[in-house]
Amino acid sequence: MSMPGHDPLFDLHGRRLVVTGAARGIGLAVATAMLERGAVVEIWDLPTDQLTLSESDLGGRFPGRLVTRALDVSDVSAVTAAAAAAEAAGPVDVLVNAAGISSQRRPALEIPDGDWARMMAVNLSGPWNTCRALGRAMLARRRGSVINVASTNSIDPSPGIAHYCVSKAGLAMLTKCLALEWASAGIRVNAVGPGPIKTPMTLPILEADPAVRARWESRVPMGRIGDPADLVGMFVYLASDASAWVTGQVFYVEGGWLLS
Ligand SMILES: NC(=O)c1ccc[n+]([C@@H]2O[C@H](COP(=O)([O-])OP(=O)(O)OC[C@H]3O[C@@H](n4cnc5c(N)ncnc54)[C@H](O)[C@@H]3O)[C@@H](O)[C@H]2O)c1
Repeated sequence: MSMPGHDPLFDLHGRRLVVTGAARGIGLAVATAMLERGAVVEIWDLPTDQLTLSESDLGGRFPGRLVTRALDVSDVSAVTAAAAAAEAAGPVDVLVNAAGISSQRRPALEIPDGDWARMMAVNLSGPWNTCRALGRAMLARRRGSVINVASTNSIDPSPGIAHYCVSKAGLAMLTKCLALEWASAGIRVNAVGPGPIKTPMTLPILEADPAVRARWESRVPMGRIGDPADLVGMFVYLASDASAWVTGQVFYVEGGWLLS
């Protein structure tokens, strides 16, 4: 039964989501959009003041529908414990892997081993850890949607951030591999690949260097750098039944960046 002004195709009321990296930036915009549409959301992020702030803001606006768990997605045992706790509270329908890190630019040969390892641990193993921990229950229920946050850098190399690009290319392939293995069990696995978006990850670069801002803006055919709000429609689509026959895709939401 549909409610007035309520499209059953995109309905998220009562749907339970885990959104990693949602203390700020893209993850926060996604978590907020889902809460605004009636979903129950768990935010998994590092134990920071920002997590506390977002918890008190969203918890106040959406009482009883927000849980936060302070954890590092690269920590397998922490992720396993969080998944068990989340599932104990109710079935997790949707997993959004938005936690990620970037890096200052430097020639590939100058990337320290520790930076390379950390990039892979957070951006690639992090989503793998959460997919594995929550995927088991989804497979048992034969229902679920996983949405990984890839990047235009999954297919578009950029100088100075080889480890970031490789981590995002790997995440796009992990998306397809899991989609193929889990499709017959009814689990959909897709990714969103944003172009340049104004978030706490990128704003310091954009504010420090007007030349970078101008370069990014001039490369986007639609003429502007994106905001997190530009992405949420794709996440709502992938979390909802509107995308019921969609799996293994990486959707680039980038104002035409990859055309130029
Ligand atoms: N901003 C962009 O232009 C852009 C473009 C393409 C892809 N992305 C991707 O989108 C995702 C979100 O980026 P953003 O711009 O919102 O960045 P952000 O830095 O604003 O937010 C990232 C969030 O992830 C959390 N996080 C980082 N490491 C973590 C860990 N080990 N465990 C748990 N949480 C962790 C941070 O605490 C933070 O809340 C990232 O995967 C990023 O690579 C961003």
